[in-house]
Amino acid sequence: MSGSAVIDGKLVRVESGDAILEAARKAGIRIPTLCYDRRVQPSGTCRLCIVKIKGRGRPVASCAQAIQDGMEVITEDPALRDWRRTILKLVASENPAGDCAKCIEIGPCELHRLTREYEVDTGSYHGTTSGRRLDDANPFIVRDYSRCIYCYRCTRVCGEVEQAHAIIPAGRGFRSRIATPFDTGLLESPCTFCGQCVQTCPTSALMDKKMLGKARAEEVTRVRTICPFCGTGCGINVHVAKEKVIGVTPDWTAPANQGSLCVKGQFGVDFIHSPDRLTTPLIRKNGRLSEASWDEAYELIAAKFSQIKRESGGGAFAFWSSSRGTSESNYLMQKFARAVIGSNNIDNCART
Ligand code: SF4
Ligand code: SF4
Ligand code: SF4
Ligand code: FES
Repeated sequence: MSGSAVIDGKLVRVESGDAILEAARKAGIRIPTLCYDRRVQPSGTCRLCIVKIKGRGRPVASCAQAIQDGMEVITEDPALRDWRRTILKLVASENPAGDCAKCIEIGPCELHRLTREYEVDTGSYHGTTSGRRLDDANPFIVRDYSRCIYCYRCTRVCGEVEQAHAIIPAGRGFRSRIATPFDTGLLESPCTFCGQCVQTCPTSALMDKKMLGKARAEEVTRVRTICPFCGTGCGINVHVAKEKVIGVTPDWTAPANQGSLCVKGQFGVDFIHSPDRLTTPLIRKNGRLSEASWDEAYELIAAKFSQIKRESGGGAFAFWSSSRGTSESNYLMQKFARAVIGSNNIDNCART
């Protein structure tokens, strides 16, 4: 089905299966959200995305309501703004703005960006969720559910995108919580430490443990680049502060990953500051590895290659290249193997 609808007085094209929220976004009309993540099924839990539909009595959640041909939708007016402010006040009762670690150290969390936008006093009501901080011994993720607003973005991403089902909603009402299947720590659960729950969480309930205590948010520069670990080529934003890489967030616009990362790209990039990294070539002399110059290393490699080729022929060599290298350097490697060494024993780690 396709057709047209009117959103805030603007005629928009209607695609079959689109929610009102998606149709509005495609038309450049912003509707605030908290529980929405475009990668997963809508849950309709936060109600912040409410809109009015002409001819209907009550506002509806635009993330969960399909748009229809001929619909007339209003996304913002004084009454909707008022309802959104009330919703934000209630949600923020569990999550005051002043001491939010994500806002202070990583960058503004979605909830507090919205409370500022709607000029909401986050101390109007008092929540009942204190004491839900989990002292989870895993090295990557802080789980502080005293900050949780129960939007269930984390559990849906974990199940629907990562398909790990490591975290699930549990309990009812004031006893609602996010749990692992057997209430274990994340390390004992099916968690792959992809970090996608952390990245989708709109509050500081889930945070990158490695990023905390490194800098204030205003000291951090984000550099858009490609993950250095494998040939998938996921887009990442490297967070840099005080001349050090302090963490990574996914590049949501990158075609290869569209916001997803694996444990290496999400939590492993700090290897670049490891004191164990090799900084010069090492040559084994009398059974011990000793530091050498690049000239010494290249001369040794050339001499050994020539010797092996002379004694055993090119077929004695096998070459593996890396998908971390560029296409050009991989091309050069096979050219070197075939044309210089005379070997067709060639492979690439991306093939396995
Ligand atoms: S890190 Fe990934 S696998 Fe682990 S709980 Fe979060 S989304 Fe699930
Ligand atoms: S931990 Fe974060 S993403 Fe998960 S339900 Fe709570 S607020 Fe939402
Ligand atoms: S995030 Fe993981 S899958 Fe993506 S490029 Fe890096 S290592 Fe490869
Ligand atoms: S974003 Fe639609 S109900 Fe939360």
